[in-house]
This record gives sequence, structure tokens and C-alpha cells, in this order.
Amino acid sequence: MRSLIYALATLVPLVVAPAAAQAEPVGEPLTTLRMAAQLRNIPIGASVDENALRDDADYAAVLVREFSVLTPENSMKFDAVHARPFRYSFDAGDKVLAFAEEHRMEVHGHVLVWHEQLPNWLTKAQWTPEKLRTVLREHIYRVVGHYRGRIKAWDVVSEAIDDNGEMRKTFWLEGLGPEYVALAFQWAHEADPNAQLIYNDYGAEGGGRKSDAIFRLMQDLRTRGVPVHGVGLQAHLSVDEVPNPQEVRANMERLQALGLMVYITEMDVSLKLPVTPTKLDEQALVYRDMMNTCLSAPNCKGFTLWGFTDRYSWIPEFFPGRGAALVFDEQMQPKPSYRALIEVLAGH
Ligand code: G3I
Repeated sequence: MRSLIYALATLVPLVVAPAAAQAEPVGEPLTTLRMAAQLRNIPIGASVDENALRDDADYAAVLVREFSVLTPENSMKFDAVHARPFRYSFDAGDKVLAFAEEHRMEVHGHVLVWHEQLPNWLTKAQWTPEKLRTVLREHIYRVVGHYRGRIKAWDVVSEAIDDNGEMRKTFWLEGLGPEYVALAFQWAHEADPNAQLIYNDYGAEGGGRKSDAIFRLMQDLRTRGVPVHGVGLQAHLSVDEVPNPQEVRANMERLQALGLMVYITEMDVSLKLPVTPTKLDEQALVYRDMMNTCLSAPNCKGFTLWGFTDRYSWIPEFFPGRGAALVFDEQMQPKPSYRALIEVLAGH
């Protein structure tokens, strides 16, 4: 194994020479993230923009070449699958899953209980707690049940803790009280007893109030026997504000002590535009540190980016003036951050 890794490492500088890139727009690297990650036994993922997958052949080709796990960016969210009461539409999610299966990739289910992208029929109505429980239970049963056996890990609850470490005041908290978190995990487990069930949040990779609150929430759920199996550290990072790798490692360790896996679920590293070579190098360091930390933690079981190319990313829409957060640029050429990930995976 060791010699294979070193052999891989020697190929790294040859990844996509500029001349080759002109002749072949997508590039033909001699190793890929997918190959390098496979050698380290770490699933490497990207979220998928369903429209890009349908319309952009380069996008689909790079996705298959570089990644082994896909997270549907929007197509399994509540408003996408359950836009009307009692009516479910799995078409968009099914397409992502079919694409993944065709290319021997896994799908990471995203997301059953979140406070965004909820349909108006749900949020604008008045519900008794009993009725709302029934709605959420039925939603989870239907969605997890539809993909039972084919989706092995689900983000069950996302972002239930706010930046002060309190329960986030959401539609779900207001309608069901704090117990909605445990109920959601219980229902997801009933719908697919073999699925890995994940609590997923941002801004809690290292230490701090939010990360401590998530730890306490997980401790409580585990103590009560609630079927939660992992924590997703989203890792929406910025080159200007980077979590300390030792703190991230310590956080992973304390979650391991609770018997939990951790996953990097949505990593991107935004920067203030315009792009400069220095900023790209700083960005590469952030990716490198996070991959290193994940590889060093025995319970870190997956590393997923939120997108993979700057051609499609949520950042410019949500944070005007920022962008370039991913590992391929808008021309689908690998950036220093891509090479940093390959180097770390190859043992450098
Ligand atoms: O569905 C409509 C479509 O009908 C319309 O034509 C189009 C026009 O702009 O908008 C579409 O909705 C957009 C939706 O993505 C689907 O493309 C929304 O405007 C847009 O706000 C929404 O953004 C998504 C965002 O979640 C919602 O908060 C991003 O793509 C997605 O990357 C982002 O992902 C979240 C994770 O799920 C959870 N963690 C944080 C992460 C980043 O916010």
C-alpha cells in the first residue's frame, strides 16, 4: 500500500499540464481525487447541482472522474420532494441516484429536517403539535422509505443549534418543541434500520459555544439511546477565518468518545474576489489541513465538498463579492486546492 501511495505521489506534478488542457477542456489527469481517496479508504464526495448534471457534459465527466459520493444539493429537500400535501415527487432525486449507481458512486441523503426550503403549505398553516408530528413522521417515512437500502447515510437533522449554542428558533422547534430532533432520528431509523443517521451543522468544526452545544445534544441523544450515528461538520469556511486543526481534531475525538462517526459534509472555502495566486494558495492550505485532520481521525468517514467547480456554487448568490470557493475553477481546471487534496491523500 505504502509503495502505491508513493507511486501516486510522484505523478502529482503531472496533473493537467496547461498545454494538455487546451487540447482537452476537461483535462486528463494521471491520478484523480477518487483514485487517491480510494487508496486511503476515504469516500470523497461532492454535492450535485441537478441542472448542471443534466445540461453540462464537462460537469458530469469531472464528477464521475473525481468523486465517489454524491450529495443532491437541493433535490431531496422538503420543498423538492413534498411540494404539496400528501404528494411526493422523487424524480429529481431518482435521477441523481441513477447517475450515481451507473457510475458506482454512493449517494448521501440530504436533508430530512431543516428550517429552509420548506413549502408554504407547511409553513403558512396552523398546526397542532400532534398534526405536525404526523406530517413530519410521514415525510420521513416516505422519503427514507423510498430510498431504503439504496441510500446508506442521511442528514436527518441540519442546523438545529444556533450560533449562540441555543436551539435554533425554527418552524420545527416552534411547532414540536426540542424533542423534534430525537423524534426525527427515531422515525428515520424505523424507515431504514440500516441507514447511518447524521446530525449536520456548520460553524462547529472546532471548539466554541456552538460546537459544545452540539456535543451536549449528541451526548443527550446517545445517552437516551436515540439512533444517531454521526455528526456532519459542514465546513463552509473562508480563507479569512479558519478553524484551528488541533481543535477540529479534538472535536472529532470527543465525538468518537460518544461512539459517533464524523463526516466533512459540505466543505468549501470562499475568498473575497478577485482571485489572486496568494489567496488560492491560502485556500489550498485550508483544504489540506481539513483533509489531513480527517485522515488522522479514525472516526472521520467521509469528505464531501459543496460543489466542486466555481462554475456552480451557492456562494456568490448568498455572499456577493465572495466566491471561487471550490477546487476546480470556472473553466473546470484544477486549482491549487485540488492539488493540495491529492498531495495529502498521497501521503505528502
Ligand atoms: O427552486 C427555485 C427555482 O424554481 C427557481 O427557478 C430558481 C431561480 O433562482 O430558484 C430556485 O430555488 C433556489 C434553490 O437553491 C434551488 O436552486 C433558491 O433560490 C436558492 O436560494 C437555493 O439555494 C440553496 C440553499 O441551500 C438554500 O438555503 C443552495 O443551492 C444550496 O447550495 C444551499 O445548501 C445548503 C445546505 O442544503 C445546508 N447547509 C448550508 C448550505 C448552504 O446554504
